[in-house]
Parts: sequence; C-alpha cells; structure tokens
Amino acid sequence: MTLLAQLTDLHIVDPVQVAAEGRELYVDNNRRLELAIDRVVAETVPPDAVILTGDLTDLGTPTEMAVLTERLAPLTMPVLAVPGNHDRRDTFRDTFDLPWASESNLSWVVDVGSVRIIGLDTVVADRDRVHSLHDMQHHGEFDDERAHWLDRALGEASDRPTMIAMHHPPFVTGIGWMDAMGLRGADRFAEVIADRPHLTRIVAGHIHRTITATIGGVTASTSVATVHQVELDLAPGAPVQIVCDPPGYTLHRFNRQGRWISHVRHFDTGSPVINPTWAD
Ligand SMILES: [Fe+2]
Repeated sequence: MTLLAQLTDLHIVDPVQVAAEGRELYVDNNRRLELAIDRVVAETVPPDAVILTGDLTDLGTPTEMAVLTERLAPLTMPVLAVPGNHDRRDTFRDTFDLPWASESNLSWVVDVGSVRIIGLDTVVADRDRVHSLHDMQHHGEFDDERAHWLDRALGEASDRPTMIAMHHPPFVTGIGWMDAMGLRGADRFAEVIADRPHLTRIVAGHIHRTITATIGGVTASTSVATVHQVELDLAPGAPVQIVCDPPGYTLHRFNRQGRWISHVRHFDTGSPVINPTWAD
C-alpha cells in the first residue's frame, strides 16, 4: 500500500510585498498552508510522500520560497514538487532537491514504495522573464521537448505502476475562463500516454477544485486547493468567479489490488461557528 498526499495551489505570499502592492488576497494563504500541514501531520496513516502540484507561491520570489520552506518543515516524508504558472524555475530549483530533467524542464521521476511518480513541468518556457501577476502567462505548454522527455520516462519502467503529477490538467474542464489558461498541447499529451498500461493515474492542480476525467482510459483529476476555490459555473461565457468553499487536499491510496482510491480531506480553517438568525 502506498499513500500520497497531494497539496496544490498554496499561493504562498510575502505579506510585506502584498501590503506594498495592495494586492488582493481572498484568504490568508500562508495560514492556510499551516493548517493543511498540521492536518497532514495528524493523519492516522502518515502519507509516504507529499506531492505539491504547482502554484506553491504567488510570484516565486526568494522570500516566498523561504516562507514555503518554513511552512513545509514539519513534514518528515519526501516532498515532491512540480511548478505552476505562478512559480519561477530559478527559485524552484534552489528550494527543492529533485532529479530535474534539465534547467528549463523541472520534470523528474521518483519512486515511492511500489509506485513510480513522474512529475511533469507544464509551465511556459520563458516564465522566469516575468515577475508580476499581470505579465504572467498562465496557460500551460506540452511542447516537443517535454513530449520527448515524457515518452522516454514512461518507457523506462513499464512494469511499475505509474502516476503523472502536473500543474495544468490535460483535459478541458468546462469552466471557460480556466480552460482559456489550460494546457496547450493536450492532444500531444494524449498521444504520448496512449497504450501505457502501467500508467494508471494522472493528478493535477491549477483549477482550485476537484474534477475527474479520463484520458485514454486513465483517470485524471484536479485537486481542491489549500487557498480559495474556483466557482463551479459551466455556463458558456461565465465570468471569473472565486469562492471560499472549504479548502483541502487529496489523499491518493494505491492499494494491494493495484487500484488507486482518492479521498478529499477538508481541513479546519478556524472559521467561527455561525449562529443563524433563524435559530434565535
Ligand atoms: Fe493556482
């Protein structure tokens, strides 16, 4: 049995910079990660590894990375991280010690118990040239270099149950404004993963809510975020909408029968108890 905790879209901030810029936050992002980590540590069955599927920071600055490192410190298991559109590759490389594919492709392959995890970097190639929220390109990219790398990585241990962890989900969700910043090259991705019986699970972040799909027969999902969530509105042309639905993370259990079972864990945000007026 292998148990993996997937935490995603932590969006750690530098509070001084947020105040100076007057940047809008919907929740206390940094506090949320503390609560999430407390809950992971309290799991009665400790996860064998924690997977972080991108947007670990809001801007990727060294200060944000330092806050992130401090918040992750209570974790004693391996922490496996892929970048998201809000992260920067340079500070990401300095923070995590993982077998990166290259300086510009922060993908990796790590075995946890009987399972192989392939971390896939889907961030646009020139992400590090921009340093503000307005300049960022939020869509993902699955280009030739990464297709070639993933093809090889999937071919290396075809007898080992394998999961791909990535930031941008490789499917269209139906939430239009998020799909507009989706993965470019998703068709190419589907081709590369076709006919790989050992690839049994794909997990992603980015959408800030739990969604499940299948790609070539493989279950693919996004996870609830530790910060704010994205409103579920499938109407064509629906506006950008953020909601403060309960935050959480996902526990993926690979059981002895060789099946993945995934559970959503919501954690306490410390919100006050509501006493509705109708109950007076
Ligand atoms: Fe995010």
